[in-house]
Amino acid sequence: MISPSDKIKNLPPYLFGAIDVLKNRAHANKQDVIDMGMGNPDLPTPKCVVERLVDTVTKHPRTHRYPQAKGMPKFRKAICDWYDRRFGVKLDPDTEAVALIGSKEGIAHLYLAYLNQGDLVLVPNPCYPVHYNGVVLAGGAVHLMPLREENGYLPDLASIPEKVRKRAKIMILNYPNNPTGAVIEDKKYLEEVVRFAKKYDIIVVYDNAYSEVTFGDYDAPSFLQVKGGKDVGVEFGSFSKTYNMAGWRIGWAAGNSEILGVLAKYKSYLDYGVPTFVQLSGVRALELEKKDIQPTLDEYEKRFDFFVKKLSSIGWDVKKPKATMYLWAKIPPPYANMPSLEFAELLIETTGIAVAPGIGFGTYGEGFVRIAMVTHYKRFHDAFLRLKKFMKNPPSQK
Ligand SMILES: Cc1ncc(COP(=O)(O)O)c(C=O)c1O
Repeated sequence: MISPSDKIKNLPPYLFGAIDVLKNRAHANKQDVIDMGMGNPDLPTPKCVVERLVDTVTKHPRTHRYPQAKGMPKFRKAICDWYDRRFGVKLDPDTEAVALIGSKEGIAHLYLAYLNQGDLVLVPNPCYPVHYNGVVLAGGAVHLMPLREENGYLPDLASIPEKVRKRAKIMILNYPNNPTGAVIEDKKYLEEVVRFAKKYDIIVVYDNAYSEVTFGDYDAPSFLQVKGGKDVGVEFGSFSKTYNMAGWRIGWAAGNSEILGVLAKYKSYLDYGVPTFVQLSGVRALELEKKDIQPTLDEYEKRFDFFVKKLSSIGWDVKKPKATMYLWAKIPPPYANMPSLEFAELLIETTGIAVAPGIGFGTYGEGFVRIAMVTHYKRFHDAFLRLKKFMKNPPSQK
């Protein structure tokens, strides 16, 4: 057999692949699976966005042609107008916004565009898998920054050794955070990041995929709002969660023009960008206001409120996050000493409930599971009843 590259071989097992294996096994055993594993929104895309797609595809055959790789001017302008309205950040549509086939694609390509063999990237642990795997695939090296509960799941910049700081080329950050649900409470932290990046000449990649999935009074900042943010960084945005458009594959990068120029150039050699009719649908989505996406947020909040209360009633204490649709839950007693992958396996085998094992996000995720609020509200009662039984009768102790 012809061997794949070392880059492929060096990748850790893909988290959602592992969850799929578990789900498929449960399906094969005729179990009724409640899927809280992947962060795949179950709610529909706004009707006006779907209508724009249908209308465009039907009436404008020119949109069936190859798109402009870095995004059509109308789309890039819509991104910049949105930044101005949402964050008061002024951007130049020509040079400071690029369309992406989802933010995941953009992050992976940015690494490829910047990293030579062995170049160092500062990556949080735990993290959204592409933040780490993208570096491995690009041939780079990773320095892990632990996210600890006692630090509000923020990397402790002071603890990064001087030698590492000097070598690092990129730092990736993600708030509101997947998987921990942590948020930036004080922009001073981001100011510290800017100072750090300037001093050591590091690119900051800020993944803001959940900036709009926030609850109550919490308002997530943009990295580009921070003084000097645009000098050192680019921010990745996503339609997937805000507008329930995960399957449409559209996102963006905004910020530093030099970095975005490199990304756009790299992409132009590899892909043709986002279909024009999808970009135009994205423009429609960006015209929506907070009140239009509020029903999605209210639905997540209703699910959180119900589930957090019910879990607590059976001795599984979890905290509702200020943002994201994830519960970052410590593995409960009586299973507390079980590795998260084993726990997730046991959970799906015994109850049919799929969750993401914390280890899949990195070693500091061990001891946790991530529970995504992406199934119908009615299913949460079912999930609770199954968990109640599961908590009472740990199969391993029967
Ligand atoms: C932190 C984070 N970034 C990026 C993405 C991917 O977003 P997109 O669908 O825009 O590629 C996800 C998806 O779950 C995510 O959690």
